[in-house]
Amino acid sequence: MARFTLPRDVYHGKGSLETLKTLKGKKAVIVVGGSAMKRNGFLQKAEDYLKEAGLEVLLIEGVEPDPSVTTVMNGAAKMLEFEPDWIVAMGGGSPIDAAKAMWIKYEYPDCTFEDMCKVFGIPELRKKAHFCAIPSTSGTATEVTAFSVITDYDKGIKYPLADFEITPDIAIVDPELAETMPQKLVAHTGMDAMTHAIEAYVSTANTDYTDPLAIHAIEMIMKELIPSYNGDMEARAKMHNAQCLAGMAFSNALLGIVHSMAHKTGAIFQDYGAHIIHGAANAMYLPKVIAFNAKDETAKKRYGVIADYMGLGGADDDEKVTLLIQYLRRMNDDLNIPQCIKNYGADSYPCEQGFVPEEVFLERLPSIAENAIADACTGSNPRIPTQEEMEKLLKCCYYDLEVDF
Ligand SMILES: NC(=O)c1ccc[n+]([C@@H]2O[C@H](COP(=O)([O-])OP(=O)(O)OC[C@H]3O[C@@H](n4cnc5c(N)ncnc54)[C@H](O)[C@@H]3O)[C@@H](O)[C@H]2O)c1
Ligand SMILES: [Zn+2]
Repeated sequence: MARFTLPRDVYHGKGSLETLKTLKGKKAVIVVGGSAMKRNGFLQKAEDYLKEAGLEVLLIEGVEPDPSVTTVMNGAAKMLEFEPDWIVAMGGGSPIDAAKAMWIKYEYPDCTFEDMCKVFGIPELRKKAHFCAIPSTSGTATEVTAFSVITDYDKGIKYPLADFEITPDIAIVDPELAETMPQKLVAHTGMDAMTHAIEAYVSTANTDYTDPLAIHAIEMIMKELIPSYNGDMEARAKMHNAQCLAGMAFSNALLGIVHSMAHKTGAIFQDYGAHIIHGAANAMYLPKVIAFNAKDETAKKRYGVIADYMGLGGADDDEKVTLLIQYLRRMNDDLNIPQCIKNYGADSYPCEQGFVPEEVFLERLPSIAENAIADACTGSNPRIPTQEEMEKLLKCCYYDLEVDF
């Protein structure tokens, strides 16, 4: 038996933020990140709409990018004091993910971070509050997913929390919120969405319910991402929908080792100034992982179908895989994303020698590989790599080598 779960309501289109006026309850917390939502007036709007609905509002502000366990615990303490019946999370993946984890701790104050990390082991929520998510970036799709990614900075590791319990009740996908994204954010979040759709399509947990969502998302992202990056706001609005469709797919079909590797490399070189941004990590690793996975016949066929839908040509599946890899690498170039960790430089732009020194990478490689294999996303990848294979794959991602194993 398989399960397919989405929020009960997805409101979308310009101005859909107004839906907040219709929430029924007594008290709402709004969880937001830095200053982007405030600066653009969306926070004020959201607060006004909720007040119009008769709710008392408390703000939890300042959730940092890649939120920490500490941020989660502090936010939950505020919720326990205020006792909201609605949690409204607005912003990028970071504040929404943090709010999801706060929600668990709010409903179950004795739950530790370790408890939350048990995959599909989160206790029944909604005894105290319901959850509304409003994304301002076009990538993570956390507004419709059963996931939350929290970073343990003591260990330098990102932990994905996973359970349909944390799939939001309401998602509001209003493209106006995404209009203010700077170019770099458009690039990273867009390639994150592309990775979600492709990994979901070839995942061993794919189903008839997830395939159409994944394929349509891939076609849309292929068409809209570069124009959105170059400032076309209609394309930006399309991307907001496309990433959400990709999220609906991967929340139910799961992901693969591109994400396992991104989770385990994102914060591990922090001491060298290299925070490898999630979407950029995915963009660099995706072509390598496709080459690796394509050694599995079923996965190869599925990549072939993706290439067909993208209209890439190719006489057989091998050629289609090659064309798909080339296409994705060209997208990275167009979006100013490096092709490998070695070239990952300041502000995430490509450069000759990036942040991560070779000897540091090689020294940490065995443990990164071990952690990546143990990541929750590995189980649904079409090929399960051995320690040796994962180390080789990561080396290809560091030096930009061709994957031939
Ligand atoms: N839960 C999931 O299913 C899932 C999936 C993929 C990734 N993630 C996680 O989500 C996080 C990344 O989220 P993200 O990529 O959305 O970025 P983010 O939330 O970390 O935000 C990045 C920066 O962009 C700013 N920002 C956000 N929206 C803006 C806007 N409209 N205009 C201007 N600035 C804006 C933020 O203030 C922040 O400084 C990572 O921790 C990643 O691991 C979660
Ligand atoms: Zn992702």
